[in-house]
Amino acid sequence: MFLHNKRISNQFRIILLILIIGCFVGCGAQKKNLSQIEDNDGIIVGFSQIGAESAWRTCNTRSVQDAAAERGVQLVYDNAEQKQENQIKALRSFIAYQVDVIVFVPIVKDGWDNVLQEARDAGIPVLVTDRKIDVEDQSLYAGFIGTDSLKEGRNAGLFVLDKFKDSCEQFDKTEEHINIVELYGTEGSSVALGRAEGFREVLDPHPEFRILYSKSGDFLRSRGYELAVEFLEMHEDIDVIYSHNDGMTLGAIEAMEEKGLVPGTDIVIITIDAQQAAIDALRDGKVNCVIECNPKTGPEIIQLAERLAAGETIPRLQYVHEEVFYETDDLSLIEPRGY
Ligand code: AHR
Repeated sequence: MFLHNKRISNQFRIILLILIIGCFVGCGAQKKNLSQIEDNDGIIVGFSQIGAESAWRTCNTRSVQDAAAERGVQLVYDNAEQKQENQIKALRSFIAYQVDVIVFVPIVKDGWDNVLQEARDAGIPVLVTDRKIDVEDQSLYAGFIGTDSLKEGRNAGLFVLDKFKDSCEQFDKTEEHINIVELYGTEGSSVALGRAEGFREVLDPHPEFRILYSKSGDFLRSRGYELAVEFLEMHEDIDVIYSHNDGMTLGAIEAMEEKGLVPGTDIVIITIDAQQAAIDALRDGKVNCVIECNPKTGPEIIQLAERLAAGETIPRLQYVHEEVFYETDDLSLIEPRGY
């Protein structure tokens, strides 16, 4: 039974939440935004976000917050600062408070069974968004909405295959490999796993391609820069950089330019997300392919949360619309990205 059916007043819930969160804050573990919690009849959604590691993430958070405000949904927002343990604490505080629905972006795929069982025991439906989870009992969450990371990885692989088709044809004669560097996302996250898997699925049958280097830059621009300094030092014959997000790509471009290399020409670059800076880099010829990962999922998330709060069943799996932007496209047609 969902909260709006429970005999507990919103006022009491607010006091309870302040006490619970006060405890977490007192323990130095959480940062909460309570200012938006009002004593009204709207549903209450606990939203556990990973952090603010990228422009994509900030846009995603804003999208959910704006959609909630528009629908009169009260959002209890928690920023986990890149730590799964913080997310688990946040989910527990949402359960203790008896929010109507929990929405969360799982930083990694595994390790959610226990806390989701607690949510189930408390009768709180859970919506997973952006990244997927692996739990033994799939019914522990109501549904998933977000990106298709396997498809993103496949699209990256297909672009590389097409870009280097001439070199592939000559490989029998030249035996020259196409050397790839991969800037990997957060270890254990479903999106990094999917992006890596889809890419390999396309390229593995083609021995012309060789992944020379693959390391996690945690989706951070600063790490992308550091890793690029490292791999450019280690290898002189890199043909492709496949980067799991724009932040890391922008860091790598900076490192390349410092070394006097021309990104997009000396090394082909494929990036995922499609924030404005990556589209600008595509227009400038510094990037060759941008694969969109859509962060503006707030309206759909809030609509699904409302349906769950009303006791409805939602689709198990929903992928959001995403595009691919190629260097050969008419780039003047791309609308401003807004982030
Ligand atoms: O989970 C989506 C990924 O996380 C985005 O590609 C990246 O930019 C973000 O931080």
